[in-house]
Amino acid sequence: MTTIDLARVRGIAADWKQSPYYDRAEEQDWLAPFWDEGTPFRASFAQLDLTSTLELACGHGRHAAQVLEGRSGARPGRMVLMDVNHGNVAYCRKRFRRNDVQVWRNSGLDYYPVPASSITAIFCYDAMVHFEYDCVISYLYDTTRVLRIGGKALFHHSNYAAPGSYWAHNPHSRNFMTKDLFAHIAQRAGLDVVQQQLLDWGEGPARVEAIDCLTLLQKTRPTPSRTRNLLRHVVARLP
Ligand SMILES: C[S@@+](CC[C@H](N)C(=O)[O-])C[C@H]1O[C@@H](n2cnc3c(N)ncnc32)[C@H](O)[C@@H]1O
Repeated sequence: MTTIDLARVRGIAADWKQSPYYDRAEEQDWLAPFWDEGTPFRASFAQLDLTSTLELACGHGRHAAQVLEGRSGARPGRMVLMDVNHGNVAYCRKRFRRNDVQVWRNSGLDYYPVPASSITAIFCYDAMVHFEYDCVISYLYDTTRVLRIGGKALFHHSNYAAPGSYWAHNPHSRNFMTKDLFAHIAQRAGLDVVQQQLLDWGEGPARVEAIDCLTLLQKTRPTPSRTRNLLRHVVARLP
């Protein structure tokens, strides 16, 4: 038995198979909030050890391109990109064919086939904000598995507290999640919450205060046996 609503997770993944978003998001004004000096994203990213970096939900790879160009101030060692959609994986394999980057399609719920304790940094920008709460829980538990001790994970997630809502009808297509619920899940999974920053999103009249949150987590101890057992039972694979 799984408590994960696979149909919803699949539905959200399907909505991102193709979108004008991918081209628009490559433009400077949509990259700036993540990569300009002085932004919360840039300051938090600087706290990651990029020896072995995993980007979740990479889309067409606009953030990986920034990292590989050294925009963050540090050059990555090994880099793994993941996305649930085949088209995005194919796009990134082509885009980064000359870089030392691996691009994998994942289940939509976990980081397999990434081995346990092999990653020093995980980041996910502009994607988890749309994920269903049970999918977020699954990724947080699996974060505990793949991070090395001392490794950190930086997640841009929703702080939109609208129980029962449908993500695509919410402002900026945010799914239900809150800063505190996210911190609670992370701690239950065996991770430390290093920092959480609430973020406004959108421009002009579309701006919504504190609709998002940027959370930096760290694994400071071995994966608790309780988390390992839950991973065995809870994490289900999408076919
Ligand atoms: C709005 S796009 C953002 C892409 C990229 N992070 C960026 O900022 O350009 C959302 C991404 O999440 C991916 N996605 C959707 N559901 C997912 C899931 N359950 N697991 C992993 N990736 C997922 C989509 O394929 C898409 O690449």
